[in-house]
Amino acid sequence: MKLIVQNPLKVDLGVHHKVAGLSDSIAFGFTKTLRFCADTFVAKRYGHRAIVLETVAAVPGMVGATLTHLKCLRRMCEDKGWIRTLLEEAENERMHLMTFIEVAKPTLIERYVILGVQWVFYIAFFFLYLASAKTAHRVVGYFEEEAVISYTDYLRDLDEGRSPNLPAPTIAKYYWKLDDDATLRDVVLVVRADEAHHRDVNHGFADELGGLPGAPGTVSPYPEHAAETQPAARSKS
Ligand SMILES: [Fe+2]
Ligand SMILES: [Fe+2]
Repeated sequence: MKLIVQNPLKVDLGVHHKVAGLSDSIAFGFTKTLRFCADTFVAKRYGHRAIVLETVAAVPGMVGATLTHLKCLRRMCEDKGWIRTLLEEAENERMHLMTFIEVAKPTLIERYVILGVQWVFYIAFFFLYLASAKTAHRVVGYFEEEAVISYTDYLRDLDEGRSPNLPAPTIAKYYWKLDDDATLRDVVLVVRADEAHHRDVNHGFADELGGLPGAPGTVSPYPEHAAETQPAARSKS
């Protein structure tokens, strides 16, 4: 799998891994169920939607990194850079959360939902990863396809004036090295590029675990803020 460094905001919006086999069907069905829940609960309140979903999105990378770490200890084998890549993904998702918490404030009900969902999702994803790491990464790949769609909708909302294009939060300007006069639109663009990157990395990892060749088409660049992990990720190519 090749990680191509190019314009960091150039995102292939049309990437979809075609469902093939039981593992993909489970992953796709799981994703669509969660999408339905998100659509029902937070709908088009994009700031709130981002907060709730980012608390979920930050879990898989940490679970994957932990279980890959333990596997490498048991088998005394190389991780080929995956542990750092997955840890970086988890941190990146947490930074999305820390950014959007500056844009919208979760309601009390949303905080309780986040609490409950974290218990259920962490345990479910942990056991799914133990049972089939390939399916678990496919789930994340499909999650990220949905995330790209959601942030594209958010961009449209900003462009058409339904959501205010606020100044970018300070934490976002620092993390993504944005200009001082950056706006929320700039932030959503870089976040969407991150999600596209996670999508391609996770589909690629699922393909590799399933013995398939790397995902075809454009692979998003490694995020600039994670430049120190590029050599580890590239060692797979
Ligand atoms: Fe995210
Ligand atoms: Fe993501």
